[in-house]
Amino acid sequence: KKYGLIASVLEKANVGEVAEIKGWVKSLRVQKDHIFADVNDGSCAQKLQVLIPKQLKTDFLTYGSSVQISGKLSKGPRGQLELLAENVTVLGKCVVLDGYPFNPRTAHPPDYIRQYLHLRSRTNYFSAVLRVRNALTRHIHKYFASKNYLHINTPILTSNDCEGAGEVFKVQPENDQTVKAMMQEGRNKDTVYFGTKTYLTVSGQLHLEAICRGIGNVYTLGPTFRAENSRSRLHLSEFYMLEAEIAFCDSIVKLQDVIEDLLKYLFTETWNTNETDMFLIDKNNKVPIWLNKDFITLTYGDARNILDKKGLNITEEGINKEQELALVDYCKVPVFVTQWPKDMKSFYMKESPLDITKVDALDLLAPITGEIVGGSLREDDYDKLKDKLPSEQLNWYLELRKFGNIPTGGFGLGLERIMQVLCNVPNIKDTLPFPRWPHNCDM
Ligand code: 4AD
Ligand code: MG
Repeated sequence: KKYGLIASVLEKANVGEVAEIKGWVKSLRVQKDHIFADVNDGSCAQKLQVLIPKQLKTDFLTYGSSVQISGKLSKGPRGQLELLAENVTVLGKCVVLDGYPFNPRTAHPPDYIRQYLHLRSRTNYFSAVLRVRNALTRHIHKYFASKNYLHINTPILTSNDCEGAGEVFKVQPENDQTVKAMMQEGRNKDTVYFGTKTYLTVSGQLHLEAICRGIGNVYTLGPTFRAENSRSRLHLSEFYMLEAEIAFCDSIVKLQDVIEDLLKYLFTETWNTNETDMFLIDKNNKVPIWLNKDFITLTYGDARNILDKKGLNITEEGINKEQELALVDYCKVPVFVTQWPKDMKSFYMKESPLDITKVDALDLLAPITGEIVGGSLREDDYDKLKDKLPSEQLNWYLELRKFGNIPTGGFGLGLERIMQVLCNVPNIKDTLPFPRWPHNCDM
C-alpha cells in the first residue's frame, strides 16, 4: 500500500510504510547530511517533514517549488511521522528572484497577500481560510439535512429586486445583431432579451417562498449580487447567501431559535473539524464564549435607548455600523434587534400585530461584522401585501397568498460574514477566493 495525500499519511500510515507525496515546499533547512523540507499538499493544515539525504539529486528544490517525493515513513525526534526520501522530483521550479511574492521568513499580512489573488492559495493563511470555508459549507448542508429542509437552487437571473434598494446589476445581451433586431420589434433596450428588465439576484427569498408554500421548509446557498457603492471591509459585489424559509412559522421567536441553533452548530462543528486551520488563520483565535450562552433580544426601541445613553443617536437611516458594534459590545453576545419601523424595511415583511408602525423583522448583530443575518416573518395578508407591492411584475408573489397560503418566515446569512466572525477576519475580501468589489473584477 502506498500513501498519496499528506492527510492520509498523517491519519493512517505507520512507520516503515511507503508514501509518494506531491505538494509544495513550505520551508527548507539545509544541514550537514540532510536537507529538511516541509511539504504541504492542501489536504490538511499540517505539513509533512521530509528528510532528504544530501547525496540525492535535488536540483531546483527551493521554497515554493512543487515536488513529487517518494520514500519510507519513519519516526522523527518528537514522535511525529516523517518521510525519508528515496526519490525527489521537482515538478515546477519556483525562482523567488523572478518575482515570487512570498518568502518563508516573513509573516505576510492579509492586505499584502490580497495583491496576488492568483497566488494566494500558496500561503498557509489563505489555504487555511479555504479549508474552513469548505468545512463550513459542508456543515451547513449537514445541519439542514438533519432538520429535513430541502435544498433548492434559486435563479441567478431574475426580474425582481427583492430588497427594493435599487442595488441591482442589470443584465443585457451583448450580441449587437440580437439587440438591434429585437429593438426593431419595438422593444425597450432594457427588455430586449427576456422581455422584462433582468437583474442578477440580490436575494433568492421570493423564489424560496414560492417553493416553501408547496413543500415546506427549504433553503438555498448561492451567489448573490449587490451593486452597492461600498468599499467597506464588510461588503462585496458578489457574495454567497444562505437563505432559509420556514413553513408554518407564525412567530419571530421561532425564527430566532433556528438562527441561534444553526450558528452555534456551525461554530462548534467547524472548531471540531478545523481547529488547526483556525490557528493558522490567527494564532489568537479561540472558541467564542457565547457558544454556551443565550443570544440577547432587543427591540429597535430598546436598542435606540441604549445607544442614546451612550451618546450614539440613531437617525432615520437606522442603526449604523459603529452603533451595531456598540450594541454587541454592550451585550457581550450576539444580539437580535426586532420590531423595526416599517418604513426602514422591505415590502414583504409582516406588519407587527402589536404595533402597525412596526414590522416583525430581525437583524442579528455579531462581533467584528455587526449585522450578520437579516430576516422576518412574511406578510401573509393578501390585501396588506397588495398595498405594499412595489411592482406588478410581482403579481405572482402576491398570488402565493391566494391559494393554500401559510404563514412563513425566513432569513438570509452572508457566508462571508460568518467566515469573518468565525475566523476573526477583519476584511471580508479575505474570506473567498476571488472577491469582487467596485473597480475590482480584473481576474
Ligand atoms: O439583510 P439582507 O439584505 O436580507 C435579505 O436579502 C433577505 N431577503 C434575506 C431573507 O430573508 N431570505 O441580507 C442578508 C445578509 C446580511 O445580513 C449580510 O450577512 C449579507 O446577507 N450581505 C452581504 N454580505 C456581503 N456583502 C454584501 N454586499 C452583503 N449584503 C448583505
Ligand atoms: Mg439587512
